[in-house]
Amino acid sequence: MATDTVKLPERPHEHAMDAVGTEPVRPVMSFYVYEWPVRIWHWLTALLVVALSLTGYFIASPPASVAGDTSALFTFGQIREWHFIAAWLLTIGVVFRAYWAVVGGEHARLIYYVPFWSKQWWSDVFLVVKWYLFLNKGEKWVGHNPLARASMFGMFTLGSLAMVVTGFGLYAEQAGVDSWLRGAFGWTLSLFGSSMALRTWHHAGMYLLLAFSAIHLYAAVRDDIMGRVSTVSSMISGWRTFRDFHDE
Ligand code: HEM
Ligand code: HEM
Repeated sequence: MATDTVKLPERPHEHAMDAVGTEPVRPVMSFYVYEWPVRIWHWLTALLVVALSLTGYFIASPPASVAGDTSALFTFGQIREWHFIAAWLLTIGVVFRAYWAVVGGEHARLIYYVPFWSKQWWSDVFLVVKWYLFLNKGEKWVGHNPLARASMFGMFTLGSLAMVVTGFGLYAEQAGVDSWLRGAFGWTLSLFGSSMALRTWHHAGMYLLLAFSAIHLYAAVRDDIMGRVSTVSSMISGWRTFRDFHDE
């Protein structure tokens, strides 16, 4: 089955048994959702966001000076170096993931646009909001639920792109005036008005991504337990399994 918002039949147990006789229900109610490049990209990105936030935090609030020869210790230099290594890897990931949205399956495209124009989408969002407010038993979504999709698009897809653009803007500042980096990203300085403003927005972007990560983790674990669908393991195996169904 290959759609992100499949509604289950009213009595899915019976439906499943009709379809497969005495076979176990599982093959019918598991859906392959996340292709392996998406899964590997996901976990690497999660790690990189943690590494960039930690090193970024220290760049903004440097640790107190330690006794010893600064050039020999090079502690702050190393913090920056790790930030830049992780930054390049994240950027490669952002580009690769966008490429995969084009060549991958239909689920790989979901976090790149949101169908705001669709009435159905809004009524689905309403159902999900009620689910998170404990007001209904929840629907089963094969891919991301519509609210998750919107927050992934707004907070992560656009958020990570903004981090790459502002990050390279700061990086370009330190590169030579005639470097390709300055040529490619120098415009960010004039766009934001000053180096300080650019830095502040880059910093604010970190909190956006951290807020996303916190909500994301809560929702993933909550859906796994309360929603009776596999979520965390789906991002490991690629398969989404509906563990049981409400019959009423
Ligand atoms: C998840 C992504 C990222 C996070 C959370 C993050 C976080 C941060 C933070 C909090 C700062 C300190 C800002 C301040 O001084 O207030 C910083 C600085 C910086 N970041 Fe990032 N960053 C990310 C991605 C990137 C990327 C993709 C680049 C691209 C090269 C980059 C390049 C830089 C540079 C050049 C600085 C300034 C370093 C300095 O002045 O010593 N960052 N980052
Ligand atoms: C241990 C921490 C994490 C866990 C357990 C986790 C788990 C998951 C799960 C289960 C999904 C699929 C959700 C669904 O089907 O609706 C997912 C998707 C996603 N996660 Fe995470 N995640 C973690 C950390 C992160 C972090 C730190 C980020 C980035 C800030 C992130 C970004 C994403 C994105 C962008 C997707 C959509 C993937 C796609 O469709 O390409 N995740 N995550």
